[in-house]
Amino acid sequence: MKVIREIDGVREFRRALSGTLGLVPTMGALHEGHLSLVRAALDECDTVLVSIYVNPTQFNAPSDFSSYPRDLDRDLELLTSAGVSAVFLPTDSTMYPDGFAAAVKVSGLADRWEGIHRPGHFDGVCTVVAKLFNLVQPDRAYFGMKDYQQFLVVKQLVLDLNMPLQIIAGPTLRTTDGLAYSSRNVLLSATERARAPQLKAALDEAAREINGGSPVKEATAGAVERLVGNAFNLDYLAHVDGHTLEELAQPAQDARLIVAARLGKIRLIDNIAV
Ligand code: PAJ
Repeated sequence: MKVIREIDGVREFRRALSGTLGLVPTMGALHEGHLSLVRAALDECDTVLVSIYVNPTQFNAPSDFSSYPRDLDRDLELLTSAGVSAVFLPTDSTMYPDGFAAAVKVSGLADRWEGIHRPGHFDGVCTVVAKLFNLVQPDRAYFGMKDYQQFLVVKQLVLDLNMPLQIIAGPTLRTTDGLAYSSRNVLLSATERARAPQLKAALDEAAREINGGSPVKEATAGAVERLVGNAFNLDYLAHVDGHTLEELAQPAQDARLIVAARLGKIRLIDNIAV
């Protein structure tokens, strides 16, 4: 596996390739969710490049950035054994050299939910993703449904700026107790980890109720109550349109339940189709 750290290195790697190139952008501390995207990319593309970069501009709190899990040696081992061709590991000064002044912003979609609770987060995501797309020039880029709003925002970015690549969504991978894999899960205390599966369980219960004919408002209120009773601090739990993320008072095709909540200091997000 080729380890690339510089802009020129990525450009050279790209120029030398023939066939299709798949990109899997990550912030490292890799888990099964990331690896499922890598496997999808390996199945569908001739060459796969994974980027690992903990992007400072998408973090709201300095403490979240500094405590973000990092385990580069293990990441490189996992990617080598998966059969990835190259990994891009830029530094902050490579991505944001002195004088860096551009930003990429998607309005509307990015202003809802996560955008309200993490102001500026999606500007950071869109800017770094646009830079990665320009540098790597992939034919396909792979994103997880775990970060459902991020997936929609990136699709909008690519559509609006006529970027010549396809965005592919991968399903959310979960541990056997239902908790979605997330790099931040290792930061949960034992008690918090034991409670964390309630997040998905509460969504499942609300979805069952909605599908069984209960009013949406009652089903979501029940889920909120269950989570609050399990020591979650909620940012939002909502029944939304799966394309626009507008809140829906009535059941609908392509509706989703989305949630963001804190257990202690750790913020978890999840979503399911209804
Ligand atoms: P990160 O959180 O490392 O996630 C990288 C990719 O893995 C994202 O597309 C995310 O949705 C996906 N992913 C995370 N957990 C998953 C799970 N349990 N199942 C399936 N896919 C999962 O998302 C980011 O990094 C950053 O915002 C990034 C796009 C790299 C830009 O900095």
